[in-house]
Amino acid sequence: MGYKEQIQQDRIPRHVAIIMDGNGRWAKRQGMARMFGHRQGVETVHHITEAAAELGISYMTLYAFSTENWNRPKDEVDALMALLVDTIAKETPTLMKNNIRLQTIGDLSRLPQVTRDNFMACIEETTKNTGLTLVIALSYSARWELIRATQKIAAAVKEGEMLIEDINEEVIGGYLTTSNMPDPDLLIRTSGELRISNFLLWQLAYSELYFTDCLWPEFTPEEFYRAIVDYQHRERRFGKTSEQVR
Ligand code: IPE
Ligand code: IPE
Ligand code: MG
Repeated sequence: MGYKEQIQQDRIPRHVAIIMDGNGRWAKRQGMARMFGHRQGVETVHHITEAAAELGISYMTLYAFSTENWNRPKDEVDALMALLVDTIAKETPTLMKNNIRLQTIGDLSRLPQVTRDNFMACIEETTKNTGLTLVIALSYSARWELIRATQKIAAAVKEGEMLIEDINEEVIGGYLTTSNMPDPDLLIRTSGELRISNFLLWQLAYSELYFTDCLWPEFTPEEFYRAIVDYQHRERRFGKTSEQVR
């Protein structure tokens, strides 16, 4: 039996977050330049997004470019920014066909104007879609996000709009870029690295973590279903005892 058939429809995660890693290593294994891996990675995004939409997942957040990725060689950064533009142009019909709404999180002010404009146009075009919300984390890092939230909260207190005593989990969550979504139920990271790399630090507090050696360009829908099945066999206790949550 394939993994898809093992998925329990009543336990589909509401929000899946993915650290899409391993494009460069995959390309190197084929004797190709890193960009070859990034282009193949876009194909994986296409297939996994369609699979997620079909499963009825509500939110999927993909880590596409981190704050720290700005420190890569300029050639790679420039080529990635151009690839994002091509991808949006090519994939907007796929989003429309599958009723998928696009969103972004991150410091978009650092993106080249044309990249930002393309994302904005696609977000606008897909805004009324009611299926999967696909969130692309772009120029995103959790520490960037937490600094920004802290600054906004401090400003609100200073302006007398909020009392220090009023700051709680909901308030902090409301100042994050993910304020309109539930926390991820499941985090997947490909390529065998066992780290978070500055992704969604607050939101992942109680997420189930799934690591696979599979490199992102070779991550198939079947591997994705496998991660979902694995998730569905975990007992999420949220600090309680097993007896309490059963
Ligand atoms: C992930 O693949 C994509 C981005 C971070 C943009 P990498 O480019 O990090 O691939 P590896 O880790 O070098 O193999
Ligand atoms: C994490 O991958 C960021 C993205 C997938 C966009 P990296 O390849 O940048 O992570 P590190 O540097 O190996 O931790
Ligand atoms: Mg990497």
